[in-house]
Amino acid sequence: MKERGCHTGSIVMVKSEMKVFRSAIFHCTEVLGVVQASYFEDGLLLVRDGKVVEVGDYSSVIENVDADANIIHFENSLLMPGFIDSHLHYPQYKVIASYGQNLLEWLSSFTFPEEKQFGDKEYATRVGNLFFDELIRNGTTTAMAFCTTHPQSVDTFFTIAKERKLRMAAGKVLMDRNAPEELLDIGTDYQDSRSLIERWHNKERLSYAVTPRFAPTSSKEQLTMAAGLLKEYSNSNGRKGVLLQTHLNESTEEVEWVKDLYPDCDNYFDVYDSYNLTGSNSVFAHCIHNTEDEYKRMADSNSRAALCPNSNLFLGSGLFDIEKLDYYGITSSLSSDIGGGDSFSMFSVMNQAYKVSKLNGQEMSPVKAFYLCTLAGAKALNMDDSIGNFEKNKEADFVVLDLHATELISERLKTVKNIEQLLFCLMMLGDDRLIGEVYILGDCIYKKMEA
Ligand code: GUN
Ligand code: FE
Repeated sequence: MKERGCHTGSIVMVKSEMKVFRSAIFHCTEVLGVVQASYFEDGLLLVRDGKVVEVGDYSSVIENVDADANIIHFENSLLMPGFIDSHLHYPQYKVIASYGQNLLEWLSSFTFPEEKQFGDKEYATRVGNLFFDELIRNGTTTAMAFCTTHPQSVDTFFTIAKERKLRMAAGKVLMDRNAPEELLDIGTDYQDSRSLIERWHNKERLSYAVTPRFAPTSSKEQLTMAAGLLKEYSNSNGRKGVLLQTHLNESTEEVEWVKDLYPDCDNYFDVYDSYNLTGSNSVFAHCIHNTEDEYKRMADSNSRAALCPNSNLFLGSGLFDIEKLDYYGITSSLSSDIGGGDSFSMFSVMNQAYKVSKLNGQEMSPVKAFYLCTLAGAKALNMDDSIGNFEKNKEADFVVLDLHATELISERLKTVKNIEQLLFCLMMLGDDRLIGEVYILGDCIYKKMEA
């Protein structure tokens, strides 16, 4: 299809081109809390100006396509929404796979020393680009990331995300105690955060997240300041407020430490709640040692959970409880927690989430697993009005999975009888080799090299 001009008086309006993609297509839909796999074995996805116009069976959607349209046809593929990783740390790109005794020892032996380097903008830019390359190679098109305490680490992150037209959330880590001197805030944390928010929040596809690392590394004054930022930049008049990201109940040693540091609080969640840091813009990573009261209060405040199975197994932190989270109706999502997590691949994250559930005697269906790293990720980040599935007018960020990526996958898939079985094979056997192509706003930004 060619670009066509249509005349309105003396103004020439150019009708933008419709992009047409033919493939097996899958996405998750949710109606009144019921999640379903929508699957079109021979599907068509129409995109205009970077947004979804329509998705459905080829035989019906083709009627809405001009006869001379150029159709991009993916064979032996599955086209699905880009993955959403609701919790990770971009400065930990090089920390991944560092052998640690437990969370707190791992933080001081590997994570803090590496994070010190992000005061150097050149270093941050180099690692930042490697980090984004790796995300995209793994089919992750949106993420919410911790940066470091250095404001320039945030500028670097958002500059790269903007260049690549990605929808991303991130924030400057707030930390004013119990960490190495060089990483501590020195009184400019409020001003620094404010100017970062003014510079980046709601600019193009970017969102700012206020980022107190976790309760042990912030003073009461700093938590109060963080709540001030949330209030100052809250949702109003259709404008989305800033997000909040932090860690909650990840390791038992950490939980004990929080009790000592905040003796007046009922529990760990109560620390965040009593400092007004909870709510529908707040995403809590881990949530694996929650008490009943904490589950209940997470639900009552409409706070969100980012579950990190790879990290929890890698650091020996514990097992999340998906039945409890669902029972209380907490909006939950899956995430890699790079570099506590040992893989950028959301296939690996789904694989481990399945096994964590099994160890708990619980179920994690393949549709649920894919939901948790697509539409539910979007919901956790309050981005489900723009990404997460192929509803009309959502942004067309998608991945094309190569179902012949390996001989084993190709052969195994010959035996599957339905979409659930297909998805299960992908989440158990898949890795970055499955990611054939990645599209951002309908444009291809990545193609796997031929083997
Ligand atoms: N808790 C506080 N900081 C961190 C971090 O960098 N990674 C993980 N996994 N947990 C944390
Ligand atoms: Fe983390």
